[in-house]
Amino acid sequence: MKILITGGCGFVGSNIAIYLKKRGFIVHSLDNLIRKGSKFNLKILKQLEIKNFNIDIANFKKISKLAKYDLIIDCCAEAAVEVSKHDIDRVINTNLIGTLNILKKAKKNNSKIIFLSSSRVYPINGGDKHLTNRIISKKLKIKKLFNENDRIEGPKSIYGFSKLSSEMLIEEFGYAFKTKYIINRCGVISGPLQFGKQDQGFISLWLWNHIIKKNMKYIGFGGFGHQVRDVLHIKDLCELIFLQIKKINKINKKTFTVGGSKKSNTSLKNLTHLCEKITGNKIKFARVKKTSIYDIPYYLSDNKLITKTYNWKPKKNLLDILNDVYLWLSTNKKSLKNYL
Ligand SMILES: NC(=O)c1ccc[n+]([C@@H]2O[C@H](COP(=O)([O-])OP(=O)(O)OC[C@H]3O[C@@H](n4cnc5c(N)ncnc54)[C@H](O)[C@@H]3O)[C@@H](O)[C@H]2O)c1
Repeated sequence: MKILITGGCGFVGSNIAIYLKKRGFIVHSLDNLIRKGSKFNLKILKQLEIKNFNIDIANFKKISKLAKYDLIIDCCAEAAVEVSKHDIDRVINTNLIGTLNILKKAKKNNSKIIFLSSSRVYPINGGDKHLTNRIISKKLKIKKLFNENDRIEGPKSIYGFSKLSSEMLIEEFGYAFKTKYIINRCGVISGPLQFGKQDQGFISLWLWNHIIKKNMKYIGFGGFGHQVRDVLHIKDLCELIFLQIKKINKINKKTFTVGGSKKSNTSLKNLTHLCEKITGNKIKFARVKKTSIYDIPYYLSDNKLITKTYNWKPKKNLLDILNDVYLWLSTNKKSLKNYL
């Protein structure tokens, strides 16, 4: 099977590319290397003879000239939610027009599609106005898990909109042109080859700043670090994608919620505590009380449907993830400094 991975030099894309290449698939990547760390990941792809096409995903003319692929795994995005405040064009061109271009290419070649979507398709606060107060007062008991049946109406950030509208476009192609697809709505994902920034990839960022002893800030919701997210190990996601590829002729045109869920989640405060333990370093945290209009207090995935469909569950917990990211960051510390 011949596979094209868009965003193939990014964190998720490169991990999937390496995983599938090692299992005998022909894998190519499409990535314009706009993310700094992607040049680091490209070197690893090159060692494995995975070719990258340095093309902007918004450029259909160039995409249409690529060879035919049996499957396109769409991992290309401007993945930082906060970018949608100041660069709407970039978010829409990369995330939505990019998906449209991939769909047009898939239609022409009868390729299947696996799309990496996001939990941010749900509205801010999950529609619950009291969540923020409960986060600040620490009275939040996490009972709610989000799944495919949760409501999607309401503001969600331009990033969230770009992911949801991409999902909807994929469904339309599935309906009108019989394109076979799978959509994975993922919570936070982490693991080696992730380059954390202030607004994206917080697990990697937290560990890195502890390693280099750089002080940080708890931003929003009173500045206490009580926000909670689930975190999925990239290896668990790669195993799931492998299962999905094997069964894609039978199981397709489906949307799944995928995440670390109850097995693997953390508040920022707890993450700090674990980073201190793992690195042996303590850093200072300033408090920024004001909350970004796009931040959400917590998110945990309900994996019921994906577990039932593929008999898949995350195997790795938060400590596994932190230890693996730490190992990667600390062993590559010298060279990573140029990319972070
Ligand atoms: N990492 C997470 O926690 C997470 C969670 C949920 C969903 N996702 C989704 O998974 C996918 C991959 O995320 P990631 O964390 O690997 O992000 P990433 O930023 O590491 O990777 C994205 C890649 O796309 C490339 N790219 C960006 N704009 C491009 C353009 N216009 N043309 C060509 N290439 C371009 C970048 O260079 C980068 O290598 C995204 O669709 C994201 O929305 C990620």
